[in-house]
Amino acid sequence: MNLINLNKKKKIRETNIQVCREKGIILPTFKNMINPATVPVSIKEKLKRTGLWDVDPVNLFRITWHNEPVETGGRFGGVNFIEIPKKLTGTKARIFALVGKYFPCGVHKVGATYSCLAPALVTGNFDALNQQAVWPSTGNYCRGGAYNSALLGCQSIAILPEEMSQERFNWLKTVAGEIIATPGCESNVKEIFDKCHELNATRGNHIVIFNQFEQFENYLWHYTVTGEAILEVIKKLNIKTDNIRGYVSATGSGGTLAAGDKLKDTYPNLKIGASEALQCPTLLRNGFGGHRIEGIGDKHVPWIHNVKNTDMITSIDDEDCMRIFRLFNENEGINYLKNEVQLSDKQIEDLQLYGISGIANVLSAIKMAKYYQMDEDDAVFTVLTDSSSMYKSRLEELNAQNGAFTYKDAVAVHSGSLLHQDIDNTLELTYYDRLRIHNLKYYTWIEQQGKTIAELNAQWYDRNYWKSLPAMADKIDTLIEEFNKEVKA
Ligand SMILES: Cc1ncc(COP(=O)(O)O)c(C=O)c1O
Repeated sequence: MNLINLNKKKKIRETNIQVCREKGIILPTFKNMINPATVPVSIKEKLKRTGLWDVDPVNLFRITWHNEPVETGGRFGGVNFIEIPKKLTGTKARIFALVGKYFPCGVHKVGATYSCLAPALVTGNFDALNQQAVWPSTGNYCRGGAYNSALLGCQSIAILPEEMSQERFNWLKTVAGEIIATPGCESNVKEIFDKCHELNATRGNHIVIFNQFEQFENYLWHYTVTGEAILEVIKKLNIKTDNIRGYVSATGSGGTLAAGDKLKDTYPNLKIGASEALQCPTLLRNGFGGHRIEGIGDKHVPWIHNVKNTDMITSIDDEDCMRIFRLFNENEGINYLKNEVQLSDKQIEDLQLYGISGIANVLSAIKMAKYYQMDEDDAVFTVLTDSSSMYKSRLEELNAQNGAFTYKDAVAVHSGSLLHQDIDNTLELTYYDRLRIHNLKYYTWIEQQGKTIAELNAQWYDRNYWKSLPAMADKIDTLIEEFNKEVKA
């Protein structure tokens, strides 16, 4: 079964080569993204003069966890990650998180979008001159997609729910060709799919929809690039095999979660935790509802979620996330964390690295560490997908709703939402719990989105289904290298 379409369309591929040649665009490979030491010197020289968010094709090479954490002129260093202070987590175990803020446009989703776009570009399955790239999303994916489209000089359509933060809409207006706001909030993914069907019916060949919830290129990017980045952190910190205990991630599209599959291939005893909002407990209870953890969608199970490999569900109360977001960003919260909790200056500075879903991921890691009663040397890994800068307007809204955040609030949030975070709303999955979640895919993907029962069954019964994916990265790299060669010719 070919999970990623790499069939070439010669004529369109030629057009794309021409487009890239005219604009001097060279595309990074998976190898470059995993290990930027392999990036050509000429590109590194250009990066010296380029801002992290500049709409300049050379920034395609900044689709890596290795960017120097500076606004302009940065090149590459080690993987961007932090250890979450135990004074915040209250766990015995160590919790580490990759940092997404230092990707171009401040979000890790720029990687998933690139890995969807690049194979289509180099095979000719997307026409950079005559088609619009459509990015259906619950927030950041369409930002990343619109950004990458702009770098390549192609037209894009960003689709996202109307209740997403104002920051996202404001920025999108500067890069996306078209923005479509779908009804509802974060968890209204069905409405996004409906819009895609409508666009397909009305615009047909003029568009290509890059659907992160079903495209294995998204899975592949995280398996390969995010997974390798965490392995590099493990190596750097010299963590012993026995202590590599867990990986957790919220499932928006299920992409980020795929890094867990890579880690488990390397460390078979590692537990993978999939997280969601308690206000929309689809995985925990087949539940539904609206929530405020922007970026993680729900009310469906993404096609690319390898459910059989998932060990635990953690459902996170969005109220905890919003309270902690205030604690980390309001003056009284920061004063408390500095003076009372005695976080170091660096740890205080790092508070801006947590977006709302990043906080949810940390809370999931706390739940996992407590559930398995992990010890001092044990480690759980997760991801801070974006940063606080994406959500400042939420602070204003919360102040208007609840009044100013006080020192007393800070004490309560630290002791309640963080230190007292417990193993409630956590489920360790049995074989049949997993099957129940897997079966939920039927309603979205077979009934609504035209997938086949044969493939649904293959996801569960065919051991080679998921195992066939990692090798695709090398195949895509070969296609990218051939394409680049012809662009330069
Ligand atoms: C802020 C944020 N957090 C988490 C996620 C979930 O990541 P994934 O879609 O890889 O599951 C997203 C996805 O768009 C996001 O925007």
